Amino acid sequence: MASNRGVVYIKPGEVQVHSIDFPKLEDPTTGKSIEHGVILKIVSTNICGSDQHMVRGRTTAPAGLVLGHEITGEVLETGRDVLFIKKGDIVSVPFNIACGRCRNCREGRTGICLNVNNSRPGAAYGYVDMGGWVGGQAEYVMAPYADFNLLKFPDRDKAMSKIRDLTLLSDIFPTGFHGAVTAGVGPGTVVYVAGAGPVGLACAASCHLLGAAVVIVGDMIPERLAQARSFGCEAIDLKKDATLAQQIEQIVGVPEVDCAVDCVGFEARGHGHDAGVERPATVLNSIMEITRAGGALGIPGLYVTGDPGAVDENAKIGMLGIRIGLGWAKSHSIATGQCPVLKYNRQLMMAILHDKIQIAKAVNATAISLDQAAQGYQDFDKGAAKKFVIDPHGMIAA
Ligand SMILES: NC(=O)c1ccc[n+]([C@@H]2O[C@H](COP(=O)([O-])OP(=O)(O)OC[C@H]3O[C@@H](n4cnc5c(N)ncnc54)[C@H](O)[C@@H]3O)[C@@H](O)[C@H]2O)c1
Ligand SMILES: [Zn+2]
Ligand SMILES: [Zn+2]
Repeated sequence: MASNRGVVYIKPGEVQVHSIDFPKLEDPTTGKSIEHGVILKIVSTNICGSDQHMVRGRTTAPAGLVLGHEITGEVLETGRDVLFIKKGDIVSVPFNIACGRCRNCREGRTGICLNVNNSRPGAAYGYVDMGGWVGGQAEYVMAPYADFNLLKFPDRDKAMSKIRDLTLLSDIFPTGFHGAVTAGVGPGTVVYVAGAGPVGLACAASCHLLGAAVVIVGDMIPERLAQARSFGCEAIDLKKDATLAQQIEQIVGVPEVDCAVDCVGFEARGHGHDAGVERPATVLNSIMEITRAGGALGIPGLYVTGDPGAVDENAKIGMLGIRIGLGWAKSHSIATGQCPVLKYNRQLMMAILHDKIQIAKAVNATAISLDQAAQGYQDFDKGAAKKFVIDPHGMIAA
């Protein structure tokens, strides 16, 4: 049988590349055959901040989990019931797995599909509590409900020439864009983006695409803030003594923004003197403070229901000290949850193919081999201003 290798979670702080099973057209939990699925040869697969939560031991992910939910692939084999996706197609795979048939999928809410995970709504590849689907930081992977989920790139050569951009369609570009859309960003908006990791940078680039007047990005890592400045964002260093509101005032003249996006999540650090300390509710509380009355808060940053490494007992079950009274008083709208990638990926693909955005440049997409994955995880954890793109078959390098 054909061989396969993938990135496996070993223990907190450690991943290794191991031999893993070659994928089958089979449900990994029940063993039932999956004729609506395809086997993909992976063209590119990215390391994500969401993977880091697991690898840092901040979730209940079991040892042995094959990681990877950001997948772009070439179709090798199709199941009997796949009608429109063909062998040889180059496709982007949304990180959300969705059936296309349930109530939520029919409403376009593919991040909370009701039929792909026995334990809760919503599923993803290679992720704890997300249905047991095998991850794609590997050479090959199986993708179910292929006709519904997969986005085919119109032209193979063009796709390969822009693959460092297109690889971001499986998650962070749509996720950052969704954060901006749900915060209500449009022409002339003044927006604050918390976090200059890849999701924050993708969100900031999306805010520019949507016509924002001022895009302010906050973080504590100088290289990441420099990356944000490199494509026209204002950057705020949250290690400084001046408060976030004061720093915003220095930029736009008032201590307030129209809307804000949390691209950090539950491992948030405090501001100022607390910048080295974990304060999980910091971003949520600070964006309520600085957003105008009537503004909206997009929250793609991840919050969990179980965190063994949390700072206190409440946070261990995802219960945080949020000043909801303030948000209520200001009539804030709040949008949370997984990004429904399918809602945006085709449009964002067109923006890439027609040079309306340089998303790979914005997030500094950097290709590495599968054997460099463990190093990539370590560098990313240290705050490298890079989005690591694993190139398991040397197709990007070629
Ligand atoms: N909703 C979704 O569908 C979805 C999809 C992808 C990623 N995510 C989540 O988005 C978040 C960001 O992902 P990433 O890959 O950019 O991760 P990342 O860890 O690289 O980036 C997080 C950044 O936040 C910074 N930070 C910490 N505390 C902060 C604070 N108080 N204010 C501002 N910045 C602060 C960190 O220094 C870091 O640069 C993660 O929680 C990830 O799980 C969600
Ligand atoms: Zn991701
Ligand atoms: Zn569904």
